Amino acid sequence: MTVNSPSTIRVPLPARGYDVVVGAGLTGGLGARLLPLLARPKVAIVTDATVARLHLAKLEASLAASSIVHDAVVVPAGESSKSFPELAGLCDRLLALGVERNDVVVAFGGGVVGDLAGFAAAIVRRGVALIQAPTTLLAQVDSSLGGKTGINSRLGKNLIGAFHQPRAVFADVALLDTLPEREMRAGYAEVVKYALLGDRPFFEWLEANGSRVVARNSPELLRAVSRCCEAKARIVARDETETDERALLNLGHTFAHALEAAAGYGDRLLHGEAVAIGMAMAFRLSARLGHCPAAHVDRLESHLARIGLPTTARSVTGALPRAADLLDIMRQDKKARSGAIALVLVRGIGEAFLTRDVAEQRILSFLETELDGT
Ligand SMILES: NC(=O)c1ccc[n+]([C@@H]2O[C@H](COP(=O)([O-])OP(=O)(O)OC[C@H]3O[C@@H](n4cnc5c(N)ncnc54)[C@H](O)[C@@H]3O)[C@@H](O)[C@H]2O)c1
Ligand SMILES: [Zn+2]
Repeated sequence: MTVNSPSTIRVPLPARGYDVVVGAGLTGGLGARLLPLLARPKVAIVTDATVARLHLAKLEASLAASSIVHDAVVVPAGESSKSFPELAGLCDRLLALGVERNDVVVAFGGGVVGDLAGFAAAIVRRGVALIQAPTTLLAQVDSSLGGKTGINSRLGKNLIGAFHQPRAVFADVALLDTLPEREMRAGYAEVVKYALLGDRPFFEWLEANGSRVVARNSPELLRAVSRCCEAKARIVARDETETDERALLNLGHTFAHALEAAAGYGDRLLHGEAVAIGMAMAFRLSARLGHCPAAHVDRLESHLARIGLPTTARSVTGALPRAADLLDIMRQDKKARSGAIALVLVRGIGEAFLTRDVAEQRILSFLETELDGT
């Protein structure tokens, strides 16, 4: 890994502000970085089986070197761990390990571990401290900061959860060396999201450097992760509980969540892949409604395709539901309020806005076009 000094980004929330440290090779020194944040030198690590196999020994050695007592709870890898049975098992394990009110839970994994362990930390003993140590690109640029935690419901993704801000986030980009390429590309979709929603120069930079970001082991990766964390920190600080501006982070997500629900939250369609399709759909719908020039749609589609990301629902393997069923799922999305479907649309690359004014009939006919390809 190229040696670059870590950068620290502050999430400046009143009373709950915290640092996000982004660097290559942070895990080896994590014990020393954690020590000042602990009430007593004891932590519970939550991780998944894959991350445990690849990286847990490194983290444990670093905790041991700082004389931090530690236990690890290992959950199965994959989205299906964001469930009530896993949550219940995890809470019981944390209590059995003697986790007390001032103790710290370290979420060491991707977005699934972060969301599940974060929610457990929010509710065990009515809330214990949480440290996020994200190990996927998606988690490093998005899910580990901002304080949203939760699990999935039969009725939709992330419908059960809590806001629980971490005490700190440590994003070690060297851990991404072992991430499967498909996961890396999926995480990159969230990187593109930040550029699309408010940072056109960043999109231009990604057009030139995106392939070096996904290739890993590059200064470009470190730079991209830091830039995304800065953007998210800014947005979260202005709108912690998503009354307004934070909703822009859902660019592509209303469509993505419906597609993921339809595809069964599995290997068929990863979250980031669904987001890539959802963002392209948001651009196409924006163009269709006259908000966005067609040239911007083309530019986004060709960038996503160059990185190897899907841009249409039709590219998802296997059968998809009918447009009316997808619309039903979209209505269940937690961003739907008083019945109106909230959509993040765009005026172009770098200019997103939230609207509840698109009539359902128009969304339905758009979805029909998207699914039929006519
Ligand atoms: N809380 C939020 O604000 C927020 C934001 C965006 C997404 N999310 C959630 O995040 C989840 C997706 O996160 P994800 O994409 O990280 O998925 P994930 O946690 O399932 O990780 C993807 C896969 O990569 C493996 N993995 C993790 N780190 C690895 C590493 N360093 N090397 C090799 N393999 C590794 C995991 O075991 C898993 O199989 C979704 O559930 C989504 O809803 C939450
Ligand atoms: Zn996302």
